[in-house]
Order: sequence, then C-alpha cells, then structure tokens
Amino acid sequence: MKNIGILASGRGSNLQAIIDAIEAGRLNAEIKIIISDNPFAFAVERARRHNIPFRTIAKKEFPLREDFDRAVAGHLKEQGVELVVLAGYMRLLSGVMIKEFPMRIINIHPSLLPSFTGLDVQKKALDWGVKFSGCTVHFVDEGLDSGPIIIQAVVPVSDSDTKETLSERILREEHRIYPMAIKLLLEEKISVRGRRVFIKDAEEPQSAVENPVVTI
Ligand code: GRF
Repeated sequence: MKNIGILASGRGSNLQAIIDAIEAGRLNAEIKIIISDNPFAFAVERARRHNIPFRTIAKKEFPLREDFDRAVAGHLKEQGVELVVLAGYMRLLSGVMIKEFPMRIINIHPSLLPSFTGLDVQKKALDWGVKFSGCTVHFVDEGLDSGPIIIQAVVPVSDSDTKETLSERILREEHRIYPMAIKLLLEEKISVRGRRVFIKDAEEPQSAVENPVVTI
C-alpha cells in the first residue's frame, strides 16, 4: 500500500508533518489527493505549495452528510486511495465513508483516548487535572473518537501549563507519531483483534513515563 488521501479542515500542521516525512524519504507514501471542506483552510495552501492535487467541497453543495461523504469517497476512490488520513478534519464521518473504507480511515486526536473526546480537549485535560496527556492515532468508526487505538504518545502536564503550552507540546508529538502510524499501516504491520491493535516486530517499551521527580 502506498496511496493515501488526506482530509483536512484547518491549518494542516499534521498534513505538513506527513508531507515532510514523505519528502525526507522517511515515509514511502504518495498523497494522491487532499480534500477540504473549507476552501480557506491553510491545508489547501500547503497542497498548492507542494503541488499535491486537492479538492474543496463546500457544505452547501451537499447539505446531507451521506451525500457529502459519497462525494468525498468518490474522489478518493477515483485517485486509487488505499488509506484515508484525517488531519484536523472537522466533520464526523457517516456510515457511507466507513463502508467504503473499512478499517482504512485513521485520525489523530490530541488526548489520551478514551479520555477527553470531542473538541478543546487540551483544556478539558487541564481542567480535569490530569498529570499526563498526549495524543492518539486511532481507526475511525461511526462514533466520536471511538475506534481502536493504533499508537499513543504521552505528554506530562506541568503545573505551569496553559492550554496553549500543553497543546504545543502535544502537537509536537502528533507530528512525530502520525507519520509513524501511517508507515506501519502502509507496511501492513498492523493487525486488529477486537479493539486491540497489534504492531508486528514492535520493540517492548523500555521505561515507564515518570511524574516530575520530587525528593521525599
Ligand atoms: C490536531 O490537534 C489534531 O490532533 C486534531 O485537530 C488538530 C489539527 O491540527 N484532530 P492541524 O490542522 O493538523 O494543525
């Protein structure tokens, strides 16, 4: 597998991380198309800058979610896309997309799922008082951030963190693990049993992630 399609609604920094990984030869993939529901998304500008084919589809063209998804799926299929990558895509997918690409759609979410689903989750994590947050790459099903988890990265929360500083540290991890997850999928190193996702030839974790150390 090599052909990916990316759906993005916003600034597209994860899209950029994927483009960079491909251009640096770290990820053997081809972005066949970028689709955005927002013509003003900076993600679209990134597509232009890197000469990647893109489409924008406005919500008003297809007010019904299923019709919108049928149009999106049509473009992806037309381009021979094998793996669909959501990168800050602000729409919940309908069954139409899921049926067209079963276990072939992934998303990145800026929390350690299943904690804190939906929007503004870095603030939700801070307000809850968690000591660790992070990000999750997961398969997409029809629920909200509910599909099987592929990989996660942990980000410790510090006392001085604000929503902005925590988001920035999580984002750095997003950019690191998203291309990694795509690579594993394209190399067919991922298998799924129930909700559990297994990675072929993965190394065992070497250490636990620690809280800030205090002497007692
Ligand atoms: C990221 O935080 C991602 O985890 C979430 O939406 C944000 C998109 O950011 N799903 P960007 O558009 O990739 O910069």
